[in-house]
Amino acid sequence: MDDLNLPGGIPVDSNYGGSTLEEEEVADSAYSQASSINNFRVEHGRRYSEYKEGHPFPYDEVSQANERALHDLVFCILDHRYFLSPISETSLRCIADIGSGEGFWTEGAAQRYPEAEVVGIDKMFHERSVEPNCSFIIQDITEEWVLDNPSMKFDLIHIRNLFVGVRDWEPVYAECFRNMNSGGWIEQYEVEIQATNVSNSELPGSEIRKLSDISYEMARVSGRDFQISHKMKHMIEEAGFVDVQEQKVSMPLGPWARDPKFKEIGEHFEKFYKTGLQGWLMQIWTRYLGKTAEEVNEACAKAFQEINNRHGYWYFPLVIVIGRKP
Ligand SMILES: C[S@@+](CC[C@H](N)C(=O)[O-])C[C@H]1O[C@@H](n2cnc3c(N)ncnc32)[C@H](O)[C@@H]1O
Repeated sequence: MDDLNLPGGIPVDSNYGGSTLEEEEVADSAYSQASSINNFRVEHGRRYSEYKEGHPFPYDEVSQANERALHDLVFCILDHRYFLSPISETSLRCIADIGSGEGFWTEGAAQRYPEAEVVGIDKMFHERSVEPNCSFIIQDITEEWVLDNPSMKFDLIHIRNLFVGVRDWEPVYAECFRNMNSGGWIEQYEVEIQATNVSNSELPGSEIRKLSDISYEMARVSGRDFQISHKMKHMIEEAGFVDVQEQKVSMPLGPWARDPKFKEIGEHFEKFYKTGLQGWLMQIWTRYLGKTAEEVNEACAKAFQEINNRHGYWYFPLVIVIGRKP
């Protein structure tokens, strides 16, 4: 797998931090809906899926913007590729995107590979795709998959940002293996929640640090898995895949990197973080940690202010694992 990191870490742009990001700039942006404190509402202000055991993260317009930001972010990291596995693009016939959500990757892959059949699989309903070679099915990926065409076997299965949603990963990887052609590849992308920063750029009492640290407690009280990024390589190997490789790409939180590509990654990641944060916290904090919605919004506002101050050089790893079915 190509190494996507800069050798020796991410050099900081010395021009970064000259000025604070102004409120108007924030309000103008795609994440304004999530980052404006006035627009934050209690649980029913965010739309949650109650299907089966439900999902602690919302599924609404803001989460859609968040998925879009993640799609742009990963696309930038991969230099506008849809996957990293060593697959000959002309041999791609069947592709699955599991936990496809809004289907940004699913529909994009269908457009890029018009000869391939691309299937998005999710617990949530998705409108019919405009791409003739793209379809969506409603399916819990932890259960035996019932496909429209039962003889269909995939050459590539894509999984992205399903942490917290899936409690038990073993049956998911088993189904990926069972529904794949020999020689097919699985790829998974998950963001690690542990915040790291460059050369002690952390301010005392950093909210970003606090939010990163509290994720362990959030996992414990909600019984959700926040740590799949640490385990997926091993679990994918255990499921029978071979040639399993992992890499971690450091994603700057904000455009503080000197390198132009990593500066762009930072812009996308900032948007992802700002459109996601309230939704990641709201239900778990209010249901299990005794916090009010106002306290959630205050924490978000503090974290956004910290980012807008343009001082800290934070980054989070994106963990990528690929593996082949023998
Ligand atoms: C955060 S979205 C990620 C969407 C997409 N993969 C992306 O990268 O933009 C997570 C999606 O996983 C789906 N999901 C979570 N658990 C699932 C399960 N057990 N079966 C099917 N879909 C699931 C949710 O419904 C949601 O649409």
